[in-house]
Order: sequence, then structure tokens, then C-alpha cells
Amino acid sequence: MAEKAKAPNGKLGVMVVGLGAVTTTFMTGVLMARKGLAKPVGSMTQYDKIRVGKGADKKYLHYKDIVPLADLNDIEFAAWDVYPANAYESALNAEVLKEKDIEPVKDELVKIKPIKAAFDKNYAKRLDGDNVKDCKTRWEMVEALREDIRKFKEESGVERVVVLWAASTEVYVPINEKVHYTLADLEKAMKDNDTENIAPSMCYAYAALKEGAPFIMGAPNTTVDIPAMWELAEQTKLPIAGKDFKTGQTLVKSGFAPIIGTRCLGLSGWFSTNILGNRDGLVLDEPANFRTKEVSKLSTLESILVPEDQPDLYGHGNDEDTQYYHKVRINYYPPRNDNKEGWDNIDIFGWMNYPMQIKINFLCRDSILAAPLCLDLVLLSDLAARAGRYGTQRFLSFFLKSPQHDYTQDEVPVNHLFQQYVMLKNAIREMGGYEADEEID
Ligand SMILES: NC(=O)c1ccc[n+]([C@@H]2O[C@H](COP(=O)([O-])OP(=O)(O)OC[C@H]3O[C@@H](n4cnc5c(N)ncnc54)[C@H](O)[C@@H]3O)[C@@H](O)[C@H]2O)c1
Repeated sequence: MAEKAKAPNGKLGVMVVGLGAVTTTFMTGVLMARKGLAKPVGSMTQYDKIRVGKGADKKYLHYKDIVPLADLNDIEFAAWDVYPANAYESALNAEVLKEKDIEPVKDELVKIKPIKAAFDKNYAKRLDGDNVKDCKTRWEMVEALREDIRKFKEESGVERVVVLWAASTEVYVPINEKVHYTLADLEKAMKDNDTENIAPSMCYAYAALKEGAPFIMGAPNTTVDIPAMWELAEQTKLPIAGKDFKTGQTLVKSGFAPIIGTRCLGLSGWFSTNILGNRDGLVLDEPANFRTKEVSKLSTLESILVPEDQPDLYGHGNDEDTQYYHKVRINYYPPRNDNKEGWDNIDIFGWMNYPMQIKINFLCRDSILAAPLCLDLVLLSDLAARAGRYGTQRFLSFFLKSPQHDYTQDEVPVNHLFQQYVMLKNAIREMGGYEADEEID
């Protein structure tokens, strides 16, 4: 049977890469919840109850009553950013939260001053901050970041650290077998300063794992989605998770597509478009950065509604007539700021191929949806490490748009929201010392 998680013994350091809209909303919410001034709505670790035991022994319990989760009061925050604004100033700039929801924790937020970033402008051309490390090579970046983590541990006295990437989406880095397939090649490329194949995010991930911290990729970057990083996670016996927070449109997609698939309805096209105006939208307005997001967003549907499995239902629609037409667009539109609006137009067909349409209009708040995912991913990665789990954490797919999977072995990722939920529940059960099971609740 899988290992039971050990109880924590001391504080949990949460080091976030990027101190923008998502991070400051996450931090402010945790600090406010600690004071009893806000509710962490949307967080599975704080609200969800799952069944453990069967028959007469069954009980429905919160996660914290099944597994030894870190307490919100035991979290210490730190962050890196390209811009020098502290967490309070950055929260105000982001305009996600109202001042009345930030002021009560101003003192704590002001103290979170961003550490200099490991940054390369070629990876996010639209950013222009000067709070940047002066490193000549990628290897120097790694060493400086490792030093940051050690220093934070020492100064804050935390027992454990988790590193979460909630920084901008980098330009798309295609997987290069000569660099990304083995740890030795990856390290060599870092030392040779191969800036084309080594994104700054890879330096953060490498540094985190070397310093004993699980690493979570919240953007669609392929950072830890490469065999070399799997090898490092295996060597260091640490969890990794990625990629891309599953917040708005993709959450709807991975929850809605199963309705079509389960009822064996046909799909001829799914068009998703968004408008958003925050800094994330600005960065994604750059085609090379959008490409990273597009690859991540497109992957969701294809593994739920599989053309090869059901050619009559999903094998028609696009130019080559081999699959439904699936398109995703993000449009930068400043007036909306963080309040993204997403439209989905779904062309389905039924009995005797008669067409029908479904329209979904989601007026969401990006960072409000992402913040609870940050909390859950951080707490569950820390828990997984204490349960001796390492490598890609498939049970965290529930929170991610484009779950990591071993593509070198043709492994297919699970994108179906309710199958992902079963994986999540079973992992919690196992880490609590119960058996995983196949019951429906
Ligand atoms: N909010 C959502 O719904 C959602 C969903 C999925 C993924 N994401 C991803 O989360 C990330 C954060 O989103 P956001 O809205 O907070 O963006 P943001 O632009 O407000 O914040 C990102 C911050 O990262 C900083 N940054 C960029 N490169 C850095 C580096 N190398 N080191 C340190 N800091 C760096 C930027 O200066 C910026 O302040 C984005 O990649 C976004 O695509 C967000």
C-alpha cells in the first residue's frame, strides 16, 4: 500500500515566481483568511469533503481530517519578480481586489519584497522591469536562485519550501531531445549558456529541486514537462506538477465535454474565444507567448472526445475531415483588466446527424479563480513530499489545464474533470492511510 504522509514539523515556506495578479490575490486571500476576514472559497483543501471507509464505516471528512495538511497559519511567503513593487503595491496595481480587502493585511504584504528575478527579455518581450539578477549564464542563474532559497530558509526559519511558478508565460520552447532528454545534457546546456533551449523557468525548477523543494508550474511553460526534469525529480525524490492552472474556460471545457462524450453526441466544432486586459493578457498578445498557451489549451478536448475511438462522432469537421474543428483565441482588451470574458460556441449533432448548438458565456475573474488553485497545489505538493511521492504528481491534474504525462511512453493524460477528481480523492485516501477505491463517491 502507498505511504502515509508524515506530519509536518514547523513552518512551510511558499516561494512564488512572479508577484503579479494571481500571486498577490493568493497571498492576500491567505492572510485575510488567517485573520478570519475572508473565506478561501474555491479551495478544495479548505472545503471539500471526501468519503473514507466503506459500508457502516464510511465517513465524509475534510482533507485536513484525513491527511496532515499544513495549516494556513504556518505559511511564510516570499516571491521573485522583474518589477520591484512589494506585494501590497502589486496587489493595488493588479486591481483584482478592492482596497478594503487588502488594507487589513497591508503590513504583512509590504514586507513581501520581490527578490531579483532570473529573467531574460527574449522570453517575455513585453516586460520591462529592472529588478533582475545580473547573471552571465543560465548556470549562474541556477546558483543565484539556490542561494535565494537557502537564504529564505535561514532567515524565515521555515522547515520546508515549495516553489510555485505564477509568473508570465514564457515563449514556447520546443522539446529538443539533445538538450531536454537527460539531466546530464540539461546541466551541460545550462553551463554552456544555451539560452535558446534553457528558459529561465528551468533554472527556477532546477534550483528548487536541488534545494529540496517541490516545484509547481502554473503557466503553460514546458519547464518540468521534460524527461531531464523527471530524472532530477526522481533523483531528489521530490514532487513536480504542471502545467497551467485550470481556471476559467478550460475548467468549463473539461467539465462540459464529458456531457457530450458520455451521451455519445457528436461534435463538429468548438470555438473558444476570450477577452482579457491584465498583464497576463498583454504578454499573451505576443504570438510566441500565445503559442505556449494555445498548445496547452488545445490539449484538453482531444483526450476527452477522441476521434480515433469514435470516428462517427468526433472524426469529422475540420479541413482534413478527420476531427472536429477546435480553435482557441485570446484577445488582449485592456478595459476588462482581470475580468476575463470567455465565449464558447459548441457545434454538436445528434440522432441522424441533426445539428445543434450550445453557447457558454463565462464572465469570470481570472485571479479569483487561480488563487485557490495556488493554495491547493502548494499544500498538496508539500503533503505529497511528506508521503514520499516524487516525480510528476498525476493526482494534481484536476487543477491543471495540460497535465504532465510521459509522452516518451505514449502515455495519454487524463483531462476528464471527473476522472481527475477520482485520482485526487484516491491520492488523499492513500496519503491518509486508507485504501484507494473505485466507489462512485
Ligand atoms: N489567472 C488565471 O486564470 C491563469 C490561468 C492559468 C495560468 N495562468 C498563468 O499564471 C501566470 C500569472 O498570471 P498573472 O495574471 O498573475 O500575470 P501577471 O502578469 O500579473 O504576473 C506575472 C508576474 O511575473 C513576473 N515575471 C515574469 N517573468 C519572471 C521571471 N522570469 N522571474 C520572476 N518574475 C517574473 C512579471 O513581472 C509579472 O509581475 C501567467 O503565466 C498566466 O498565464 C493564469
